[in-house]
Amino acid sequence: MSNQENLTYVVQPGGRLSGNIRVPGDKSISHRTIMLGSLAEGVTTVSGFLEGEDALATLAVFRAMGVTIDGPNNGNLIIHGVGMHGLKAPEKTLNVGNSGTSIRLLSGLLSGQSFTVTMEGDASLAKRPMQRVTEPLMAMGARIQSKEGKPPLTIHGGHQLNGINYTLPMASAQVKSCLLLAGMYASGETCITEPAPTRDHTERMLNGMGYPVSVEANQIRIQGGGKLYAINIDVPADISSATFFMVGAAITPGSDVTLEHVGMNPTRTGVITILQQMGAEITIQNERLTGGEPVADIRVRYQPLTGIHIPEDQVPLAIDEFPALFIAAASADGETVLTGAEELRVKESDRIQVMADGLQALGITAIPTADGMKIHGGKFAGGVVDSHGDHRIAMSFAMAALIANDTIIINDCANVATSFPGFVTLAKAAGVRIESTNG
Ligand code: S3P
Repeated sequence: MSNQENLTYVVQPGGRLSGNIRVPGDKSISHRTIMLGSLAEGVTTVSGFLEGEDALATLAVFRAMGVTIDGPNNGNLIIHGVGMHGLKAPEKTLNVGNSGTSIRLLSGLLSGQSFTVTMEGDASLAKRPMQRVTEPLMAMGARIQSKEGKPPLTIHGGHQLNGINYTLPMASAQVKSCLLLAGMYASGETCITEPAPTRDHTERMLNGMGYPVSVEANQIRIQGGGKLYAINIDVPADISSATFFMVGAAITPGSDVTLEHVGMNPTRTGVITILQQMGAEITIQNERLTGGEPVADIRVRYQPLTGIHIPEDQVPLAIDEFPALFIAAASADGETVLTGAEELRVKESDRIQVMADGLQALGITAIPTADGMKIHGGKFAGGVVDSHGDHRIAMSFAMAALIANDTIIINDCANVATSFPGFVTLAKAAGVRIESTNG
């Protein structure tokens, strides 16, 4: 991570997107394969695993706790599960880099162990709120120290956890998943009530591995004391990574791309709904199921977009896709309004502010609000934008350059490697005139 701090993208206008593209594996599912495969009885095999820095950080954490994991080798992994109580105390502080999913899910899982662990991360992670997990975990009986509610976190093991009845104060799959993982180690039942549906990969994978989780309306229940059994997992391509190419094709005349084998879990497809409401031409082909998750091929052809008021119920279903959706909005005819998305302010960067700054630097009228943004569609000028080390912001502005009047230079792009290794190569092959420079 550190030797590439100055990675810059230089993107020339004039490209258009075409062809069939398979983006890397789903980040959320990849994290969960490592966590649940490690705790299972038996050997879990994984294909399509995301070899990006975030998921690799989770992998390294489980190796440090004594789990033997072979690979990754072209997305293939073999995880030798140690059972629910087989993890060992790591020798050192666990470093999870940029990964909010790792630290939040692991907080729950580690609260149920008999040993004490400290987790830390990079400068971005050090600013992200952790009370959302530490408060309910402590209510379950966990002992956790933080730095004023932020990382590093020290989880003191060996304390009995009790099931909890908890209503999430925000729509967060990370908090829900954290409490489900702690709930496996708690006495009695843990019941989580969600204010709105969020990604349900944890529930699906737990059920798939033989640990029952019940879901009724907006309540998710798990009993402590169960077991996980090894399975084979095929990780679909990440719809959040596919989004950059979907938006690139949707805004660039002459484009026609097909994103292959993309995860189509209905808790993740808000980006498709929103783009379609803006008038994008998207065809879903070849729908199928793999390992309990729906997948499909997504064909996107250019068609002019129109601004909309984004329905608030789509926000949690597209939570990681707003940097790219803001680029779509900036190229649409008329005004796009986003509300109800204050969670964007506490992602890898403050995605409302950083995107508004970048759009303004390119001549677009973008007005940030407390919980969203108003964007007037226009024409991107060339210019320099700062991604603030946020992978999704860097990749989004690379797509804006397709239709800009001049070159766009994007600074601080090294963290693209957290979720999308090989982005520049794939983007070039698809038709983006992008180069990366170091220094
Ligand atoms: C994730 C949940 C979301 C998402 C993140 C991955 C997960 O975070 O933004 O990229 O894998 O559970 P929140 O739960 O904070 O919304």
